Amino acid sequence: MPTLPGSNTPFWQRAPKLILRPLDYFEDHYRRYGPVFQVGKGPLSIYVADPVVIQGIFQADAAQFHVPPQNVGSGLNFLLGDQSLLLLDGDRHRRHRRLLMPPFHGDRMRAYGDVICTLTKQAMASWQPGKTFNVRAAMQDITLRVILKAVFGLADGDRYDRLRQLLSTLLEGLGTPFSAFFIFFPGLQKDWGAMSPWGKFVRIKAEIDALIYAEIGDRRQHSQPHSTDILSLMISARDAQGEPLSDGELHNELMTLLVAGHETTASALAWALYWVHWLPEVGKRLRQELDPVGPSADPLTYASLPYLTAVCQETLRIYPVAPTTGIRIVSRPMTVAGYDFPAGSVLFLNVYLVHHREDLYPEPDTFRPERFLERQYSPSEYLPFGGGHRSCIGSAFALMEMKLVLATILRHWDLELPERLRRPLKPVRRGLTLAPPGNLRLTPLAQRVAQQPALPLG
Ligand code: HEM
Repeated sequence: MPTLPGSNTPFWQRAPKLILRPLDYFEDHYRRYGPVFQVGKGPLSIYVADPVVIQGIFQADAAQFHVPPQNVGSGLNFLLGDQSLLLLDGDRHRRHRRLLMPPFHGDRMRAYGDVICTLTKQAMASWQPGKTFNVRAAMQDITLRVILKAVFGLADGDRYDRLRQLLSTLLEGLGTPFSAFFIFFPGLQKDWGAMSPWGKFVRIKAEIDALIYAEIGDRRQHSQPHSTDILSLMISARDAQGEPLSDGELHNELMTLLVAGHETTASALAWALYWVHWLPEVGKRLRQELDPVGPSADPLTYASLPYLTAVCQETLRIYPVAPTTGIRIVSRPMTVAGYDFPAGSVLFLNVYLVHHREDLYPEPDTFRPERFLERQYSPSEYLPFGGGHRSCIGSAFALMEMKLVLATILRHWDLELPERLRRPLKPVRRGLTLAPPGNLRLTPLAQRVAQQPALPLG
């Protein structure tokens, strides 16, 4: 079997660049070794940025792959629990996906559309002309509110406020580039007491767990048959054998949806706001599309606007929040498009590198939403949500949320980037994902339409 091009530098030597300058790391390897390359010794890590190979991997039988056993004990396991969709394999993965997918499709989206617009207005209520705000924090506030309402169906009150507070503290702490070392080197996860970095996370997480179990308990006792939130639907869902999800499974899946769903969408929204305000022609064209839509329009009208959709797609292309898909370990030797992948090799489908291929995306470093109006991309050419049997279950929800939040903000406010941020910005690491720099800010200039006081939900 011919070996793949690549480098055998050990992980500990590669890790600092992979963690702190991931895009340079990927681009350097791509330039040197081409679209399919290996790194490291021992179990081979193989990066794939060739759409033909990716298509073969997406279409392969799910049994061909498994998730890494070393995830047990890793940062993800600590955060989500070992019954999380992200960490399950085989029949259990299939069972959980079947139970979790229905709430994310079809008519359900209509109910979430109103929730998203109302919560965006609630979050904007504190904005004032001239008072610059941190974009990441503001977007995270919105997406956390959305996930707690749409997923948990939480009513306003102490539990909602406390969960909101604790989750943002936990994820903010775990989101710094340096805390990524906890994820990549699980041996650093040592609880040396309440003041130690990891010890703090452990205590916050324990309080979050208690609140989530309390909510599950309450909801089991007082089930409401017509609720449309995702927790209610998950509680009433049954698998092929008529079995429901246990409390532990529900808890782990709720944490998964919270973590996978709100940080990612917040980063994407922060980027979208940056691009729209950094590139005046993009902002202008977007407003021209949004302005004619009346204030009382159905939120889903926004979701079908072509330029708004293209802006969101381009946002997720140029700096994908997840630079690679989830890890797939090859269970049985396989050959895809002429490449042999031995059993045990660890595949990373490199979303960032595919999205920056000149042959697919001319001038790949230029933000140009029009490219999505001019041509259609296949699932292996455009993959911000991964694909195949592990594709993101929240992709439709996330895209709709991005469009509705962006449209609601732009309809209500004229915003401006502070002078020092009117320049090209590069992503920084946030745990396993990439995000805009934490100091991204915007200044509200004037309110475009007087904001009606948002009605409380729940
Ligand atoms: C812009 C926002 C988002 C991005 C960029 C994103 C991206 C991704 C990616 C790349 C994967 C891995 C796919 C693969 O390995 O092929 C994934 C998996 C997943 N995502 Fe998302 N996601 C987003 C929002 C959401 C939302 C809103 C939810 C739910 C509320 C969600 C829930 C999940 C879950 C549960 C998985 C694991 C699926 C599995 O392993 O079977 N994500 N996401």
